[in-house]
Amino acid sequence: MKELLLTEAREEDLGFLLGMWNDPGVMRYAGYPEGRCWLDADIRRWWQEYLAEHKKTAGDDTQLIVSLEDGTRIGESHYGPVPEGFAVGDWRRPEGVRCFMTDIKLLSGYWGQGIGTQGMRMIVELIFAKTSCELLVVPPHKDNPPAFRVYEKAGFLLTGLEAWQGHEMMELSRERFKELYSG
Ligand SMILES: CC(C)(COP(=O)(O)OP(=O)(O)OC[C@H]1O[C@@H](n2cnc3c(N)ncnc32)[C@H](O)[C@@H]1OP(=O)(O)O)[C@@H](O)C(=O)NCCC(=O)NCCS
Repeated sequence: MKELLLTEAREEDLGFLLGMWNDPGVMRYAGYPEGRCWLDADIRRWWQEYLAEHKKTAGDDTQLIVSLEDGTRIGESHYGPVPEGFAVGDWRRPEGVRCFMTDIKLLSGYWGQGIGTQGMRMIVELIFAKTSCELLVVPPHKDNPPAFRVYEKAGFLLTGLEAWQGHEMMELSRERFKELYSG
């Protein structure tokens, strides 16, 4: 098992993020950020918007970088609060429940070695430790079985509810997190 590191994204990670978000293999079913060719100017604009949101939410909205122990960047993840009243497709944020959304993406050279599962478990632990999240959700695409499997192994349950077209919402409550991760 490889040692993984999760760090908050810094300006020097923008080149890496640009490469990932322009990689059609990585982004095929990812849904976020939206599918298009990212230019240097786009990512710089995104960075400024992200910094503002990160500050406004006191760190609840955070972009993470997944790295190997030696600092090699191999992936990224974003988490952030889902606003009250938010609804997409058949899924609606439960009223009064503090809800966050997240994901994980790895460079294709690192797929199929258990890294996604390990990284996702670390991300789940970090979110429940650092935020007041009561319900964590992920929206994998129906044609992306490895993502469903990774989220399932990290504790998420299927809801059967379609969010964005082709994306099913999966949920993990803080109670279930405590049961699954306490050992
Ligand atoms: C999704 C992703 C993070 C998975 O990472 P990974 O390191 O390959 O995942 P793991 O090796 O930990 O586990 C993959 C699981 O999927 C399973 N799997 C792989 N291909 C599969 C398929 N076609 N059908 C069913 N299961 C499959 C593997 O067998 C494994 O499960 P197992 O451990 O029970 O055998 C990676 O594929 C990725 O970055 N994809 C691009 C970005 C993306 O789509 N992210 C999800 C956004 S919602």
